[in-house]
Amino acid sequence: MLVLGIESSCDETGVALFDTGAGLLGHALHSQVGLHAQYGGVVPELASRDHVRKALPLLRSLLGETGIKSTDINGVAYTAGPGLIGALMVGAAIGRSLAWSWGVPAVGVHHMEGHLLAPMLETPAPAFPFVALLVSGGHTLLVRVDRIGAYRILGDTLDDAAGEAFDKTAKLLGLEYPGGPLLAELARQGDPDRFRFPRPMTDRPGLDFSFSGLKTFALTTFQKHGDDPQARADIARAFQDAVVDTLVIKCRRALRQSGIGRLVVAGGVGANRALRQGLDALAEELGGEVFYPRLEFCTDNGAMIACAGAWRLQAGQQQGLEIEVRPRWSLEELDAVSA
Ligand code: KG4
Ligand code: ZN
Repeated sequence: MLVLGIESSCDETGVALFDTGAGLLGHALHSQVGLHAQYGGVVPELASRDHVRKALPLLRSLLGETGIKSTDINGVAYTAGPGLIGALMVGAAIGRSLAWSWGVPAVGVHHMEGHLLAPMLETPAPAFPFVALLVSGGHTLLVRVDRIGAYRILGDTLDDAAGEAFDKTAKLLGLEYPGGPLLAELARQGDPDRFRFPRPMTDRPGLDFSFSGLKTFALTTFQKHGDDPQARADIARAFQDAVVDTLVIKCRRALRQSGIGRLVVAGGVGANRALRQGLDALAEELGGEVFYPRLEFCTDNGAMIACAGAWRLQAGQQQGLEIEVRPRWSLEELDAVSA
C-alpha cells in the first residue's frame, strides 16, 4: 500500500511517500524557520499561509523526483493534531481533498504518534513493547508503547516542554529562534564545572518533568555574569547538562519500573548530541537498547506521518469526508491497531 503523508502542524511543511512493502520512497520538507526568525517565534497566521503556498508545489516536486504518479497512491495521511489550528487545517484540507479526488481513503494522524513511530523507519526497527521519550518543542513525554496505538503516558511535563526550555534559554542568551540547536552548539565551548544547575523533580519519585525553573536559573546566572563573554557558553553548558541529566534519570526510572529494555527517542530534542550520548550510556548501563530516528526525522517531517498513517490505513481505519483537526489531543485517546 502506497501512502502519501502530509505534515503541517507547526512551522515545517513535509510530504512523503511510504510503501508498506518497500518502505520510504521519498520525502520533501520546507522549513519556515527563516520566515519566523525575525519575530523570535512561530507566528500562526504566517505559518498557515506559508503551508498553503508550499504544500502542493512540494508534493508536485516529490512526485516528479520519485517518478510516482498520483494514480499509484492508495491512501493519504495528514497530521490532524495536536498543533496550530490554522496550520493543521491547511494540511487536513489538502490531504482530505486529494484523497477524495483520487478516490482513496484518508486518515488523520496524531503528530506525536508520528514522532513516536519515526524510529520504525530505520533498520533495525524497535520491537514492541518499548518506552518512548518524546522530546519536542511542544511536548515532553515518557510513553509505554505496547503496540501501535496502545499508549500509556508514564510521565509528562508540568510546565515547559524540553525544546521550549531550550528555545527560551537560547533567546535570553541572545541566540536566534529556534535556539535549541544553537544553544547546543554554544554549549560545546562551555566549561562543565563553572555552573551547576538543578535537576528538577529528580529528588522525588515519579516520572513527571518541570523545566521552567531552569530557564529562570539561567536568567539569574546570566544577569550576575553578563559582562563576562565566556559566561554565555558556560551557562549554555550548565543548562544542557541539567536537561540531559534529568531526562536520563527519568528514562532510567521508566525502564526499571516497566521492566522494559528498549528505549525509543524521538522529537526535535532527540537530535541533541549530548542527550544521545547520555542515553547511549544509559542503555549500556542497563544492558538495553536505544533507538533513534535519523537526525532529519527527529524534527517535524512528512515521512513519520506517512508511516504512522500507513499502519492505520492498512488496518482498515479511515476518516469520513469531513475535514477535522484537533489542536489538543492526548496520545492515550488513540485506538490500538490490531497486530
Ligand atoms: O519535533 P520538533 O521539530 O517540533 C515540535 O513538534 O515541537 O521539535 C522542535 C524543537 C525545538 O524546540 C528545537 O529547538 C528543538 O526541538 N531542537 C533541539 C535540537 N534540535 C532541535 N534542542 C536541543 N538540541 C538540538 N540539537
Ligand atoms: Zn513535532
